[in-house]
Amino acid sequence: MKIIHTLPELRTHLAQFKHPALVPTMGNLHDGHLALVRQAKPLGDVTVASIFVNRLQFAPHEDFDTYPRTLQADCAKLESAGCDVVFAPSEKEFYPEPQTFKVQPPPDLADILEGHFRPGFFTGVCTVVFKLFNAVFSEAQGSRVAVFGKKDYQQQMVIRRMVQQFALPISIHTGDTLRAPDGLALSSRNGYLSADERAEAVQLSRALNAIADALRQGEQDIASLEARAMQTLTKRGWQPDYLTVRRRHDLQAPQAANFGGGALVVLGAARLGKTRLIDNLEV
Ligand code: PAF
Repeated sequence: MKIIHTLPELRTHLAQFKHPALVPTMGNLHDGHLALVRQAKPLGDVTVASIFVNRLQFAPHEDFDTYPRTLQADCAKLESAGCDVVFAPSEKEFYPEPQTFKVQPPPDLADILEGHFRPGFFTGVCTVVFKLFNAVFSEAQGSRVAVFGKKDYQQQMVIRRMVQQFALPISIHTGDTLRAPDGLALSSRNGYLSADERAEAVQLSRALNAIADALRQGEQDIASLEARAMQTLTKRGWQPDYLTVRRRHDLQAPQAANFGGGALVVLGAARLGKTRLIDNLEV
């Protein structure tokens, strides 16, 4: 496995391949990331994982400075998953000057849910992903593939829309969320949880499951389901941002007439102590 830190070296190395498959990450990798790498492997002739903690997608009060940088351990894991190339640029390499050109995603998709609670987040994500696509795919002659996790449900939708509207010749694949045996979605931020918080953390997916089960049983009063789930978590000491049922195709609230057709997703974000967790379930 080749570890590359600069754009010119990446482009020179990738010039010998036709079909790169990219898994963008911010490092601090867990089995969910490695599953994405394994998924990417048969989709191209070279599998590239990027590791870059992207300052642009963090608000000033968020965890950019403390986000774990674990390059050596990450590279060992990636190698064991069959990754061919790790692209791990420094901030100076990737943003040699302030990145003042940005990709601005549409508010109907990017200013709701995560975008509402993390203003500017999806602008930061789209900008870095657009730049990563340019870095990895510029020399490619054939199919280009990028794989994202479904745990970041809204993120993969925003990126799909970006690719579609810019007519980028890249196909976006998504990998299912991996869960710990108790049901907690794997996340790099789970490492922030204390032992007590880790035991409690599964309640987020339980709350989403409770909503999903009620919908499957024909419950129509979505507002009450959402409110009950928010109350349950709040009583347990969480600070929920949202627990909500949305249409899968546009993440808008379902209208009474068109839900129940199997095209819904329940999404949640909540803070437990200092750690903000997100999760979702397709219904
Ligand atoms: O999901 C992530 O880890 C990040 O948002 C991504 C897609 C690597 C962009 O920095």
